[in-house]
Amino acid sequence: MNYKISFDEKKPSKNAIFLYSDYTELEAFNTISNKTALLKKKITSEGSNLVFFAEEEGISFFIRLDKDAETNRKFGHECFTTLSKLKYDEVNLHTTADEKLSLAFVEGLLLSTYTFNKYKKNKKESKLKLEFFSKEISEKAVNELNIVVKSTFIARDFVNEPHSYLNATQYSNDLKKLSKDANFKVTIFDKKKIEQLKMGGLLGVNKGSIQHPTFNILEYKPEKATKTIVLVGKGVMFDTGGLSLKPTPNSMDLMKSDMAGSAAVAGAIYAISKLELPIHVVGLIPATDNRPGLDAIVPSDVITMLSGHTVEVLNTDAEGRLVLADALHYAKKYKPSLVLDFATLTGSAAAAIGSQGIVCMGTANDETKNLLKESGNEVHERLVELPLWKEYGKLIESDIADLKNIGGPVAGAITAGKFLEVFTEGYPWMHFDIAGSAFLTAPDTYKGKNGSGVGVRLLVDFLKKLANSKE
Ligand code: BES
Ligand code: ZN
Ligand code: ZN
Repeated sequence: MNYKISFDEKKPSKNAIFLYSDYTELEAFNTISNKTALLKKKITSEGSNLVFFAEEEGISFFIRLDKDAETNRKFGHECFTTLSKLKYDEVNLHTTADEKLSLAFVEGLLLSTYTFNKYKKNKKESKLKLEFFSKEISEKAVNELNIVVKSTFIARDFVNEPHSYLNATQYSNDLKKLSKDANFKVTIFDKKKIEQLKMGGLLGVNKGSIQHPTFNILEYKPEKATKTIVLVGKGVMFDTGGLSLKPTPNSMDLMKSDMAGSAAVAGAIYAISKLELPIHVVGLIPATDNRPGLDAIVPSDVITMLSGHTVEVLNTDAEGRLVLADALHYAKKYKPSLVLDFATLTGSAAAAIGSQGIVCMGTANDETKNLLKESGNEVHERLVELPLWKEYGKLIESDIADLKNIGGPVAGAITAGKFLEVFTEGYPWMHFDIAGSAFLTAPDTYKGKNGSGVGVRLLVDFLKKLANSKE
């Protein structure tokens, strides 16, 4: 962890952040800061919502929080950037603003502290110590936020790990290790077991690789749970495209991130087990790389999936849907009340909305969809729903098999969704295509650069809502 949180330090730091929502509240800070009069002058002359005074005896920030949580997360990011630039590593936080808005600020600040420097000789790292001096923010809320931030970092770390370290077997070992630090169980199927089960999608994708696939089951089952939710995550550890090779550079060099869907699932299960939510959650992660080795499937091969469906593989780069299909079929065993899958599935989804949200589609009812969209707006991992109209199904009909694994030149994100839908009979389901937002090639405020950990905060917020809902 790159930061430390404390609540009752005897010796407060000389650096401080003051959060407020209205100018009248500034009086409250008079006793702890001699800057409030100066500040008032500065605000009226400059009209700024974020003001800081950096002096020898310390730095103080005065931040007028916004009604919009995302603006406050960005204030948190700005504040952290200034603190690190000026090399302050201790700061007190005081607030007279509402808890939720203040927490959004803290969230943005904490998420900004992330670094991935495992492979750097010079491990530059923030060691920020944040001390809370406010009755407005409860210790419980900060601890919960801390869990969510840590879980997002877990997902980011997995995504940022290169394939030279994180192959399917290593991933399984790391997931097992992660479960020991929390309260969930990990069961790992090796290649032999995957063959016995006849997971033809996962085995087909793995055929061109000398590395073995794994199928990972993460299960968090508290005593009081009523509903069972299954989370499925695409775990393509590296996507070369297989024999339908991707061009490089340009697209292949980002493909260590093709397991980001599964990283979101792992991060979310870690979080909900730490938060002890009263809900039974199962994570299914089919893991393999996609390579053009000697025995790789060739375009036009027909494979038989776990469900018994046959698929004509016309493009080996449309591999995500093949591994997900087996996991979605396997999910039926749990009689789930809802299945959610996360995947960096199509360039089409990324082209449609870029990195500013998540493309989703599925068969869940409107109430579930609305709840998900509400969570998306709250955590600012916004959802855009695409239709699964039956006419699109025509595009994945094969001449010789039950299905083919590509549609056509149009509606690529939807035809991928239509393909998955075939394997989801019997339960309500939503699919999340995070191809655009999982790996950022340019820095974006508190999300930073590279692995974003997208999906974790959305899932945690949604599962919290679901655990608290009555039926
Ligand atoms: N992993 C890719 C999708 C992807 C693209 C993720 C860009 C992140 C950024 C996926 O396996 C893929 O290659 N999809 C193909 C499907 C096509 C061949 C039908 C695509 O979207 O181009
Ligand atoms: Zn691919
Ligand atoms: Zn892929």
